[in-house]
Amino acid sequence: MTSPRRDERLIVALDVPTLDEALALQAKLGGVVTRFKVGLELFVTEGPRAVEAIRARGGRVFLDLKLHDIPETVRRAARCAAATGAELITVHTAGGPAMLAAAVEGARQGGDAAVLGVTVLTSLDAQQLAEVNTAPQSLPDLVVKRAQAARQAGCAGIIASPKEVAVIRAVIGPDLLVITPGVRPKGASTDDQKRTASAAEAIAAGANAIVVGRPIRDAQDPRAAAQSLLDELACCDAE
Ligand code: C5P
Repeated sequence: MTSPRRDERLIVALDVPTLDEALALQAKLGGVVTRFKVGLELFVTEGPRAVEAIRARGGRVFLDLKLHDIPETVRRAARCAAATGAELITVHTAGGPAMLAAAVEGARQGGDAAVLGVTVLTSLDAQQLAEVNTAPQSLPDLVVKRAQAARQAGCAGIIASPKEVAVIRAVIGPDLLVITPGVRPKGASTDDQKRTASAAEAIAAGANAIVVGRPIRDAQDPRAAAQSLLDELACCDAE
């Protein structure tokens, strides 16, 4: 298997409220970062033109809307999300197999986007999950179960915490795209994220790419922060 270029392993979340701010951050990261996440905040304000503008400046876009609704609504929304030109879009696996299959169908109708299923948010720990989960099971078991459901429905991959990548790979194998948020440099603030690890730990465990927001957005020098994360990944480069 050919190893991805190191920069392809980093997706920077443009978690800002306006397109101007998003493009300013993209420009600051120019030449270092090629993949960007458009999430709810930016999309709610700016809509598809945010994806278009980032792509027009050479960025590849992960449109993270985490769709979760009845299958027909999700199919139609996934079609529109794929039509923006994003290369990755997300749905919540908790929406069930029919909804996941509908997302895959919609994405195919709209364009070329790969659908990723969000397993369990990285901001949840076992205690918080127990408050809303009616069938108690361990958090890794739930993540694996949801990853399997995503795969069975035809999703290209999943979103999971770095803590669960190894068990997902052990159970499902190498063919699923696994992208991990919840990445923090050692000793950095974890903010609201609960299941975190370093960039190198995530990739070494088998993640294809990491999504990083605040540690880059809020850094004094975002470009240097991104470069340092990429340097950390040197240890995971193929021989
Ligand atoms: O700022 P931080 O690095 O924690 O940002 C992580 C990004 O990844 C956010 O944009 C968040 O929406 C996203 N994300 C996540 N957990 C998931 C899926 C996506 O944190 N399960």
